[in-house]
Amino acid sequence: MINLTGINKYWDKPLGKESSERVYGLRDVNLEIKRGEFITIMGQSGSGKSTLLQILGLLDLPSEGEFLLEGTDVMGLPDRELARIRNKFFGFVFQSFHLLPELTALENVQLPMTYAGISAKQRIERAGELLDKVGLSHRIHHHPKAMSGGEQQRVAIARALANDPGFLFADEPTGNLPSETGRQIMEIIQGLNKEGMTIIMVTHDDALGKLGSRCLRLSDGRIVG
Ligand SMILES: Nc1ncnc2c1ncn2[C@@H]1O[C@H](COP(=O)(O)OP(=O)(O)OP(=O)(O)O)[C@@H](O)[C@H]1O
Ligand SMILES: [Mg+2]
Repeated sequence: MINLTGINKYWDKPLGKESSERVYGLRDVNLEIKRGEFITIMGQSGSGKSTLLQILGLLDLPSEGEFLLEGTDVMGLPDRELARIRNKFFGFVFQSFHLLPELTALENVQLPMTYAGISAKQRIERAGELLDKVGLSHRIHHHPKAMSGGEQQRVAIARALANDPGFLFADEPTGNLPSETGRQIMEIIQGLNKEGMTIIMVTHDDALGKLGSRCLRLSDGRIVG
């Protein structure tokens, strides 16, 4: 379970020597996310969707407020511990896939397991199973540039699942894909939620926003619905 209380995120941009301007990404966010939920996050460009996802996924820390993960206050944890939590419990999928171009699909999927210290034999076996799960068993030795956008996103999902995380964070996962391909990606994500994974997904698309069990609407950094 994730509990956010009174979360603010801001950046102070210097304006000359003595003054600065405070830019808010999130304002007074209070949010509880339970295991197994499928949360969608919607709102206009600049409303704070990606900022909220980054903070929920511990890719960035709030400026103020309290963040409890399974009851543990994460804001006081050292960076190394935050990285360990992300790698073990969280999976991430982004609009632009973020695969490493010099690695094959099989190698990309193995990466989080390498960081977790899993043996090469186990890594290769699990990476193969995960690529099979997303329908890519015929593409395991391909490099990203030799795959379509939808195939690359499926590799990214397989990679996100590598360490069997409880949470999947997705920022516009179908934003760069044609609608039919996007639909296949959404089916995979919905299937993961049915298997018990907690999903938190940013989307611009009203139809996709309705696929979750709960939709959060952001406006100017606040949750407004
Ligand atoms: N690293 C940063 N430094 C300064 N300001 C930032 C930073 N990241 C985000 N912001 C600001 O925070 C606000 C929210 O940005 P965010 O990227 O969360 O919006 P978004 O809802 O994801 O938009 P989009 O739909 O365009 O992706 C914006 O005003 C943005 O300029
Ligand atoms: Mg964004």
